[in-house]
Amino acid sequence: MTGVSAPGPATVVVRPAARLRGELRLPGDKSISHRALMLATLAVGESRIAGAGDGADVRSTAAICAALGARIERVDGDGGSADYRIVSPGADGLRASSTDLDCGNSGTSLRLFAGILSGLPFTSVLDGDDSLRRRPVTRIIEPLRSMGAVFHARSNDSLPPVTVVGRTPLRAVDVATPIPSAQVKSAILLAGLRADGRTTVRESVATRDHTERMLRTRGVDVRSEADRAGVAVSLEGGSTVEAVSERVPGDVSAAAFWLVAGAIHPDAELTIRDVGVNPTRRAIIDILRAMGARIEERPLGDAADNGVGEPMADLVVRSSELRAIDLGPADVATAIDEIPILCLAAALASGTTTIRGAGELRHKESDRIDGTAIGLRALGVRVEVDGDDLRIRGGTALAGAPTDSLDDHRLAMTFAVAGLLARGATTVHRPGSAAVSYPGFFADLERVGA
Ligand code: S3P
Repeated sequence: MTGVSAPGPATVVVRPAARLRGELRLPGDKSISHRALMLATLAVGESRIAGAGDGADVRSTAAICAALGARIERVDGDGGSADYRIVSPGADGLRASSTDLDCGNSGTSLRLFAGILSGLPFTSVLDGDDSLRRRPVTRIIEPLRSMGAVFHARSNDSLPPVTVVGRTPLRAVDVATPIPSAQVKSAILLAGLRADGRTTVRESVATRDHTERMLRTRGVDVRSEADRAGVAVSLEGGSTVEAVSERVPGDVSAAAFWLVAGAIHPDAELTIRDVGVNPTRRAIIDILRAMGARIEERPLGDAADNGVGEPMADLVVRSSELRAIDLGPADVATAIDEIPILCLAAALASGTTTIRGAGELRHKESDRIDGTAIGLRALGVRVEVDGDDLRIRGGTALAGAPTDSLDDHRLAMTFAVAGLLARGATTVHRPGSAAVSYPGFFADLERVGA
C-alpha cells in the first residue's frame, strides 16, 4: 500500500506501492497556459481559455496580465486546471503597472514578458523569487536590445530584477539563439510583433513551438523553415493577434512522472487522459519507448480541435523492462524539463545511461544536474557527474532515504516517484514546490497507489 503522509509542512513521506492503477487528468500544459494568457492580453476583446494549468507559475502570469490592464476572470478552477475569461484592450491599450511585475518562480513569465514589454511604450520591472533571481537573463537582454529596447538588470545586466524600457516600433532583426531555448525564441518573436519589418529567429535544434502554433491560430503569419543548420522562424511586425477560445491540453511534462512511475513499477497500469503530444514536446515518450517502456498512445481527434493547434492523445503505460540509453545535447534540448525523471528511469534500467551536454539544467529552478545526482545518490543510485555530463548506473534496488527538492517542483516529483519503489520510507523535503506546475500531484500519487 502506498502511504503519503505529511508529518509537517516541510516534508512528505512516500512508502512503496504494491501496485499502481488508475486514470489521471493532468493540469493544463504550463507552457501553453502562459502563452494563452499572454496572447489573450495582446488581443483586443474577449478570449476564453479552458483547462489552463492552475499552478503558481501560471497564476503569476495571470496576475501580470491583469496588472498591465487586461480583465482576467477565473470562471472555474479545481486546483488542477482553471478556466479563464479575458477581456483586453489589446497591446495598444495596455498600461504601465504601478508595481513591479512579480514572476514568482516562473522563468517563462519573466522571459516572455521581457519580449512583450520591449515593444510597449512604457517602463516595467520584472522580478521574481530567490530562485528566479539566480537565473540568467543576458540571453534575452542581448537580442532584445538589438531590437531597440533598453534594459537594466542586476549584476552587470545578468540577473533579475530586470527593468524594461519599451520602444515602439522596435527594429526587426535576424538573429541566431546562442543556445536552443524556446523561451529566448518566444521572447524575440513576441517583440517581433511590434517591430518595423520581418523578424527571424534561427535555432540549431527546434525547441517547443507553442508560440508559433498559437500565433498562427490567432491570425499571425508565422513561417518555419527547417534546413541542415536547424530551423528559422519568422513573422511580420505589425501583425494583429486575434482573440480566440481554446482548450489547453494536459501537460506532457507532468505526464512524464506517471510514464516513468508506470514503466519502472513491477505491477502498474496507468491511463493518462488528454495529454498534449506536440512533436516538439513528445521526446520524453519516444525516449522512454526507446528504453523499452510499454506506452500505448491513442490519438484524440484533429490537431485543430482544441483551438490551439496542438495534437492530444490518451497514454497508457504498463510495467516494463527498461534498458539504458545514450542521450546527447539535442535530446537534452527537446526533453529539457524531463531529464530529472529520466535519470530515475535510467537508475531502474539495465546498463549504464549517459546524458551528455546537459549544462542548461544548471540554469533551471535549481541546478538540476547536482540536485538530481544528490537525491538519487541518497537513494543508493550510482551517479557520476563530469562537467555537464551524467552517467547513471542502472539496476540498483532503491533504498528509501531523505531527499531534498531544493524548492524545485520537478525534483520534488522525481524523488516522490522514486519513493513508490524504494525500500522503506523516502522523505521529500520541501515538497510544496510541486504546486508550481502540478498542485494536485501528491493527491494523485496517493490515489494511483491506493
Ligand atoms: C519553456 C521552455 C524551456 C523549459 C521551460 C518552459 C517554455 O525553457 O525548460 O520549463 O515554455 O518556453 P528554455 O527555453 O529556457 O530551455
